[in-house]
Amino acid sequence: MRLYPIMDTTKENDLTYEENSNNYPPAKAPISPVLSFSSFSGNDHQNAPSIASAKYKRFVTSGRIATALALINENIGAGDEVLVPAYHCESMVAPVRHTGATAVFYRINADTSINIDSITELLTPKTKVIVVTHFFGFPQNVKELRSFCDQHDLIMIEDCAHSFFGKFCGHPVGYYADYAIASTMKFFPVFDGGLLASNKHPLNQIKLEKPSVHMEVKAFLTIIERAISFNRLSFVGKILGFFTRIKDYLWSAIKAVFFKDRGSASIGPSAAEGGFSFDPAWLNTKASKVSRFIIKKTAMTELVKKRRQTYMRYVEALKDIEGCHILHTKLADHIAPVVVPVYFNHCAQVFDKLKKKGVPIWHFGEFLDPEVSVSTCPISYEYSQKVIQFPCHQELKEKEIEWVIREIKATCLAANK
Ligand SMILES: Cc1ncc(COP(=O)(O)O)c(C=O)c1O
Repeated sequence: MRLYPIMDTTKENDLTYEENSNNYPPAKAPISPVLSFSSFSGNDHQNAPSIASAKYKRFVTSGRIATALALINENIGAGDEVLVPAYHCESMVAPVRHTGATAVFYRINADTSINIDSITELLTPKTKVIVVTHFFGFPQNVKELRSFCDQHDLIMIEDCAHSFFGKFCGHPVGYYADYAIASTMKFFPVFDGGLLASNKHPLNQIKLEKPSVHMEVKAFLTIIERAISFNRLSFVGKILGFFTRIKDYLWSAIKAVFFKDRGSASIGPSAAEGGFSFDPAWLNTKASKVSRFIIKKTAMTELVKKRRQTYMRYVEALKDIEGCHILHTKLADHIAPVVVPVYFNHCAQVFDKLKKKGVPIWHFGEFLDPEVSVSTCPISYEYSQKVIQFPCHQELKEKEIEWVIREIKATCLAANK
């Protein structure tokens, strides 16, 4: 069993060879975006269709917090049932349980679309909400699901954690839902970040407070530190690096003085550190200023273009490689995948070999909820074992993309022998 979360979006370089239970070295390229001088280059800052096009918005510290706020806003609690995909990570289930409601797991199809028959079978008078996830950035048929929800008087939450960008049936992601949530850490070089959005509910009851100064400082320094650890920001980074080296000393001092009674998650949310747990202490906190500033200044059209180009390079490079296939090989207009999901016949072997080489990998769905077994949804179970994901974000350097693809090909071919 692996003892640490593989889908660790921030800590690649923090894991030492010794610390890591499987003796994997740190990733040699960033699994999620890191700040660079090109992060803001491009003219078109806010024009890509995205969840942020919604009328009402709240920038919070993580996607899981946004989900919990949507449920709380609808007074979901004990006795209610919330339909959640059987293919999931813990942070999609934890907000449901936080409200006291029961998570009920529905099946998905092989193309990762939701299985409407399964949803219909699972409906009971207690069902109040459906959470629909655009896995890896590929939109579900939310128009159809909207009609279904209206017919059965259900609240629809669009989980756009993997799909900050995109359009479906002429509208940006999130448009058809009662609420949509995003995890901005997966798309932008930020420290913390989630978004709760709605076109239908004004979100007036959701009052957020500014994060502490300590959190703001931590957010800023962590963003810089991460960039430097992957050789971004060149000479300016080295100068800033001097300041980040004092960060650890600063934190120990701050924690000792201000947070001695409040546990480890006090300064920054665990989501920002790559953890999956749910901490209600962050329910009323805004995303850090620096993270919001970066999102505002990002050249979004450029971001979408780069992600699409890189994704298609994987598709082209792996199309004839035996023993693996990419789950989605076509990109509809406007979508920007969060990662490249690759199915491997010999996944465990490939995963181990690639991790040992320092290739950055996500493993979405690796730890399914104990209530989910192969009989709940054979496809979710299979994908949790056989599908791993590789980065295609806008901050990857050319040579990093080439190297990751080369390693995947070589490792997959070797595993077939
Ligand atoms: C599909 C999906 N939804 C929601 C979340 C929760 O997002 P966050 O980590 O920002 O809390 C994740 C996290 O990985 C996710 O993959």
